[in-house]
Amino acid sequence: MSSRIPGFYTLSLEERAKVLHAASGLSEDAASAAALHGGADVELLDQFVENVIGGFSLPLGIAVNFVIDGEDVLIPMAVEESSVVAAASNMARLVRNTGGFVTEVLEDLMIGQVQITDVPDLAQAAAEVAAHKDDIIARANALDPRLVAVGGGCRDIEIRPFPASVTGSTNNLVVHLLVDTADAMGANAVNTMCEALAPDLASWAGGKPGLRILSNLADRRRYSAQCRVRPGDIAVGDLSGAEVVQRIVAAAQFATWDPYRATTHNKGIMNGIDPVVIATGNDWRAVEAGAHSFAAKGGHYGSMSRWWLDDSGDLCGRLELPMQVGILGGVTRLHPVARFSLRLMGIERGGDLARIILSVGLAQNLGALRALATEGIQKGHMRLHRRNSELSASHGEEDSDSP
Ligand code: MEV
Repeated sequence: MSSRIPGFYTLSLEERAKVLHAASGLSEDAASAAALHGGADVELLDQFVENVIGGFSLPLGIAVNFVIDGEDVLIPMAVEESSVVAAASNMARLVRNTGGFVTEVLEDLMIGQVQITDVPDLAQAAAEVAAHKDDIIARANALDPRLVAVGGGCRDIEIRPFPASVTGSTNNLVVHLLVDTADAMGANAVNTMCEALAPDLASWAGGKPGLRILSNLADRRRYSAQCRVRPGDIAVGDLSGAEVVQRIVAAAQFATWDPYRATTHNKGIMNGIDPVVIATGNDWRAVEAGAHSFAAKGGHYGSMSRWWLDDSGDLCGRLELPMQVGILGGVTRLHPVARFSLRLMGIERGGDLARIILSVGLAQNLGALRALATEGIQKGHMRLHRRNSELSASHGEEDSDSP
């Protein structure tokens, strides 16, 4: 299968569907039909949440040209913002020339938090909980034999003391359960463990059980993606490739020292990340919360990515983020578009999805930096904005100023 489909954007909707099925080898089943014709039916949606009255469709575009860890992959993106799918595809084409994106699983543990309040002696409580570590892990794992059977489970604990001077109330001991949730995002598994263990943890610490919930600062579940672009491939107009890559590095630098710029820079990264998270039925609020919080670790909100020139003058980029996504649980297997999206990408492990998501985030960041550092984003943006304004006018709506 090749993800290189030149001129995909010039095809009609029907032609795109045919080319996609031929390129991916996917059958034209119900999930595929739902993806191509606007999503799930309302009876199914009615089972997901409360008070349903209908559904809300987003465009589902396919980012082409991606090679990730040596494999071609067609990537579904559910997003309403114009230029996003095109920019990811264009940048993936440039990165393809140097072999594609290279990713890594850095750590794959979710964090569950058990808060214990009113702890009389923090040092003694910490020692007491630490002494029960093996027991805690065994009890947590006994709660989820299915997770253990597929190779997951609680691996370790962390103990974090917070004195009354910090909490403003009583001494708190916060115990983290570090859980390999395998192919699931894992919220249910982790929260179940936290709730079940809280009474014993509190009694060993001599305090009272407080909150019991996972942390969306999933910094023990981190992935990275890297890419390299040859200057000759990235020239814009009259600007040489060498000039463009230098400008991109300088533009990326701006986001490292100014939080106002870093926020916009990172929003551009999330432009690539969220659409894949959404297309696969994952919790994009969790991913957003974790990514921005991770970008502020150490007390300074900065860039999520890094760009530099290597010895041969090629442009290199790296993105490292927590990524709390799965391919089991939630609506990932229930929503037909999510099912289609996972099948289209040939995802077999949750970690594979995270690696793809990071690569799209990095590609998107490159697209934004390249435009901003050269001709600006308005040229391409306004063309599409005009088209959307005409659409709004033809539907009798006021023009809106979308970002
Ligand atoms: C717009 O949706 C995203 C950008 O603002 C990102 C950036 O500034 O890097 C173009």
